[in-house]
Amino acid sequence: MDQSTQDRIRSEMEWEAARKAPPEGFPALPPIAAARYTDPSFLELEIERIFRRSWLAAIRVEELESSGSFVVWDKVGVPVLIVRGKDDVVRAFHNSCRHRGAAVTPAARGRGSLLRCQYHSWSYDLTGRLVAVPDEQDFCGLDKSANGLIPIRCETWGGWVFVNLDDEAGPLMQQIGPTVGEWGDIDVSTLRVVQNQTSLLDCNWKAALDAFQEVYHINTIHRDSIGKALNSRACSIGLLPGGHSRMVVRYHPWALETLGMDSPDTPSIPGALDMHRDTSTAYFTFPNLVTPIRSIFIQFMQFWPRGVGQCEMQVTGLGPGWGDGPRPDYWDRAAPAFAKVLDEDMANLGSIQRSLSSGALDGVRLSYQERRIYWAHEAIDRAIGADSIPPGLAVSPLLSTFAEQPVATAH
Ligand code: FES
Ligand SMILES: [Fe+2]
Repeated sequence: MDQSTQDRIRSEMEWEAARKAPPEGFPALPPIAAARYTDPSFLELEIERIFRRSWLAAIRVEELESSGSFVVWDKVGVPVLIVRGKDDVVRAFHNSCRHRGAAVTPAARGRGSLLRCQYHSWSYDLTGRLVAVPDEQDFCGLDKSANGLIPIRCETWGGWVFVNLDDEAGPLMQQIGPTVGEWGDIDVSTLRVVQNQTSLLDCNWKAALDAFQEVYHINTIHRDSIGKALNSRACSIGLLPGGHSRMVVRYHPWALETLGMDSPDTPSIPGALDMHRDTSTAYFTFPNLVTPIRSIFIQFMQFWPRGVGQCEMQVTGLGPGWGDGPRPDYWDRAAPAFAKVLDEDMANLGSIQRSLSSGALDGVRLSYQERRIYWAHEAIDRAIGADSIPPGLAVSPLLSTFAEQPVATAH
């Protein structure tokens, strides 16, 4: 992120902390219809038009330790076989054998020099080519070259393997560039996993996502944890192209010492900006990725639908590398505090879903401070297509005039 953008964000935080009202002309945001969180047909549209057409962070590259290592990733209802080739290139395929469709591998992960279907042993090489068929002569005229594993779009960035089930999708950076392009000084691929938590939540995936898009709640549900340290009023929000957004919230100066930011055993990510040390700088990358950045670590929080009233929240914390030695003790000491904040965030989600399902509420009401949520819903509607939104469920596009212009990106 360039210096002028950092300076602008800092002055926005000061302006926000001092303001007495939203900026002139900011609209009253209409309620978001409750049925967007409860209607199965809306979820089907989201799966089909968003989750199966977007770049999604699937696994860390290091999960594929060596050539032939594979992982089956299955978060959006399509089993995807991700494999590292002999050439070290990571490829993705449908985990669907071209013979009769059995899972090529039923194991969630493993390693082999060939991908041999466990049903009748059709075998594929690590590039997906069909190389062996038992009793091949009985498949009269079988063209092996036309029956390789079906490829899925796959690109890597920051040590993540991203997949996209849409063959027509643009390149990965076209989608994620507006957010990750601002982290140019941090090489995310060098970071190591220090936190791994997957939670099944009794709420629609968007209700969980909404909870991480605002700091209006921090002085209440986080009052005994992070709420004390952050100044929720000193909050700069950038609505970025594509439904993405950025939220930068300043720590109280006294809190930096309490948090141990100056302590030599507090981890510090190489390339982190001053802003990552004295603020929480969180991004939302459409459609389902929230990434709070602090100089200590970056969390990748992903929200996966599991039916209309359930979702999975997957949190992967990435900290600075520690070479060949043991993982620093810091992470064991800090783990309970990190878990406590997430527990606090999750505590209300089930009751929200029950209220939305009960018919008690026509919708959820959003303030100026919660505008990132509205911005994300606008992007959901654009991705689904206005003509396909069920009657009464659309959100009116209102916020584009309050969005930032794309900023210059580092790479
Ligand atoms: S289904 Fe895979 S070999 Fe028969
Ligand atoms: Fe929170």
